[in-house]
Amino acid sequence: MIIKNFIFLLKLINTQIENKSIDIRDNNFNDLVKKGYYKFKISQKETDKLAEELKINFRKYNIIGVGDLRLHGLDRASSYVNEFFKENLKEHFKNINYSSSNKVSLFSVLGGKLVAGNNQSSGGGWHRDMYYEQYKILIYLSDVDEKKGPFCYFEKSHKKYFQIINLILNFFSNNITRYNNLIPEILQKLNLGKKKLLVGSKGTCIVFNSSGLHRGIKIQNGERLSMTAYLYPKLENKQYLELENHFKIPNELKKQIIS
Ligand SMILES: [Fe+2]
Repeated sequence: MIIKNFIFLLKLINTQIENKSIDIRDNNFNDLVKKGYYKFKISQKETDKLAEELKINFRKYNIIGVGDLRLHGLDRASSYVNEFFKENLKEHFKNINYSSSNKVSLFSVLGGKLVAGNNQSSGGGWHRDMYYEQYKILIYLSDVDEKKGPFCYFEKSHKKYFQIINLILNFFSNNITRYNNLIPEILQKLNLGKKKLLVGSKGTCIVFNSSGLHRGIKIQNGERLSMTAYLYPKLENKQYLELENHFKIPNELKKQIIS
């Protein structure tokens, strides 16, 4: 394990995570590069339509219960969702692609319903989705205050020096992308960044680099509806199929890959 983590650390040090110069696009782009995330809002009409599509497909695929309920592949189940992410959010995809080392495109849209009653959060405690870089767009489809399981991001934690410090702190761990809750507290005390609780009314969107530290806060009452776009660089067929299985995309929504 230690040898594996050591090799990983060396790879991370050697990997070029591009530090794009800022001020070449707009404030959103600058924030994505500098802080690791930015927020924007979509219209009421778009929000309502997305929420309706989410509810229709949760019923169709029988996603019920309490806790962190998920349905991946909403962009494949609904032409509106597909069009919305690819056309209406074009400018935000551009921001991500200017910021990213690799050109990324939409892999899948996750529909999320967080229902109180199971002491549950979305995504669990502090973690990175991966080291290096990865991007997501999260949209709140219901009002999200402190009690409704908001998303929390640690500003600047996507930076390479921050990733290296975290990997060293997690050196003896079996799971190097998950962190003890104390670590962000220590890093904040050292003035290396700030925890940001991202509350917002429905229609609030958060574009973020998910290689930065983030977590979901436990929902205390009611429910939280959301959609999250997963963006990936071009994948080999095998990786693509593995990811479809990993995310439990319903069979009829899996893509036919013709090689
Ligand atoms: Fe995550």
